[in-house]
Amino acid sequence: MIIAYIVAMQAEAQPFIDNFGVQEVPGFFSPLPCRLYHARMGSATDLYVVLNGKVHGSDLIGCESASVATQAAIQKLHPDLVINSGTCGAFSSNGADIAKVYLGNAVMFHDRRVPGDDEWGTQALGNYPVWDGTKALAEKLNLPMGKVTTGSSLDMQPCDLQMIKENNGELKDMEGAAVAFVCSLYNVPVLLVKSVTDLCDNSAETYDEFKRNLAMASEELCKVNIRIVEELKG
Ligand code: ADE
Repeated sequence: MIIAYIVAMQAEAQPFIDNFGVQEVPGFFSPLPCRLYHARMGSATDLYVVLNGKVHGSDLIGCESASVATQAAIQKLHPDLVINSGTCGAFSSNGADIAKVYLGNAVMFHDRRVPGDDEWGTQALGNYPVWDGTKALAEKLNLPMGKVTTGSSLDMQPCDLQMIKENNGELKDMEGAAVAFVCSLYNVPVLLVKSVTDLCDNSAETYDEFKRNLAMASEELCKVNIRIVEELKG
């Protein structure tokens, strides 16, 4: 089985990279900034971790970079499963807490406002399929599930919140729907694993809360990813 993780930030992936001992394959995606790490697990599983990469010293976050990385990973690695692992904002009113890790049971965009025409509006929202083994995996590993909604901003404008609430969104990120969109084009299943760094319904400043909790949320993400890989490789 070939598993390809797509991760935006080095800090989100580092605990996982260290734990699995995946080795960097320098220049694999050149001239793209994406970075590849690889480990052979047992006799039948190739584990790849693809980072979006950096430009001018900072991690490439957001939909465009996630799409490029996913496209490159699918074309060059031919994964059986893509896993988008990362951090998210979530709502304490839904039972979320800092560093709680979820599997995404649905995924859409929340900041693409295309009025008027039903077809374009539907396309803009996305609502892409997620891996059909997600629910069984969540039950097996006793993990909560939630609907991921993706936008291009860390903050949340009132119109974003309205869209999220109207569509029962629970996990607000900046990459999930972009990864799932590319996977849908190639018919490659996608699993979303999201760890909460900040709560969208408290009074804290989002960026401060995100930075404060990034390390802890990434550690918890790592623990869940270890269990997921153990389960997948059988
Ligand atoms: N990643 C972590 N927290 C986020 C938030 N509140 N919105 C979007 N992406 C995030």
